[in-house]
Amino acid sequence: MSAAFRHFLDLDVIEASELRRIIERAKAFKAGDPAKPMAGRTLAMIFDKPSTRTRVSFEVAARQLGGHAIVLSSRDMQLGRGETIADTARVLSRYVDAIMIRTDSHAKLLELAEHATVPVVNGLTDSSHPCQIMADVLTIEEHRGAIRDKTLAWVGDGNNVLTSLVHAAIRFDFSLNIATPAELAPEPLLLRWAAERQGRITLTTDPLAAVKGADAVFADAWVSMGQADADRRRRLLEPYRVDAGLMRHAGPDALFLHCLPAHRGEEVTDEVMDGPQSVVFDEAENRLHAQKAILEWCLAT
Ligand code: CP
Ligand code: NVA
Repeated sequence: MSAAFRHFLDLDVIEASELRRIIERAKAFKAGDPAKPMAGRTLAMIFDKPSTRTRVSFEVAARQLGGHAIVLSSRDMQLGRGETIADTARVLSRYVDAIMIRTDSHAKLLELAEHATVPVVNGLTDSSHPCQIMADVLTIEEHRGAIRDKTLAWVGDGNNVLTSLVHAAIRFDFSLNIATPAELAPEPLLLRWAAERQGRITLTTDPLAAVKGADAVFADAWVSMGQADADRRRRLLEPYRVDAGLMRHAGPDALFLHCLPAHRGEEVTDEVMDGPQSVVFDEAENRLHAQKAILEWCLAT
């Protein structure tokens, strides 16, 4: 592995121009660009949590880029018996050319990246999900053109996916209206980060106010993986279901996005999920194209 590589950890630590380059490369890959930057290279993927899209799209991405992927469950690794993350990073770096990790604590991702001598990609932590939001930016641009100056709305929990969306609002320069229960609002530190960068972010507890005039409406699970207080969350989030009535307030051209898996009847109704405004399966597909561009960027020397 060459010394020149880049981690893909979060959208707030990567420059806007680099993220734009990745999106344009994702569009090229989707259009059939045959580049094989992973020829002869291996991606290791560590999962501390379940996954369908991340697992399959990264594995297919590695293959389509000329390389291959190894899927590891931390339970089956010595990590699960107490080997440190730092030592795991050092060992994996001797075998593979990139590491993707899906884990709980963000500190584990950062520790892995600190000790790995190959690129590390964030495949979701309790704090963020940057690969997802790159796919979402690609999806919105495909359907509605440049994301710059668009207005997006988030309805539901102030969670990991929202954190990456806030980062993207600054990096891609769009407005973001967030509706969450006060108890589940995003971290003040995140909002301060955005405010210091003149972010056009509004925070409300009213879903109707958030979606008014929006070009796209986002929902996500009311109970994310690893969250213990499911009953309390469901109670607080009951008024935040995205249904046809709420989508009407957003306007007929508004897209509906959801990173999936959806909990139909909970955060979103079947009518919206399966309706004409929904682009959720394009989003899922775009994980593949976006991650090919992310892997290429990470490995570029
Ligand atoms: N959206 C997403 O990350 O899906 P998976 O949990 O299936 O990977
Ligand atoms: N917020 C969700 C996203 C799943 C892809 C979770 O963390 O479970």
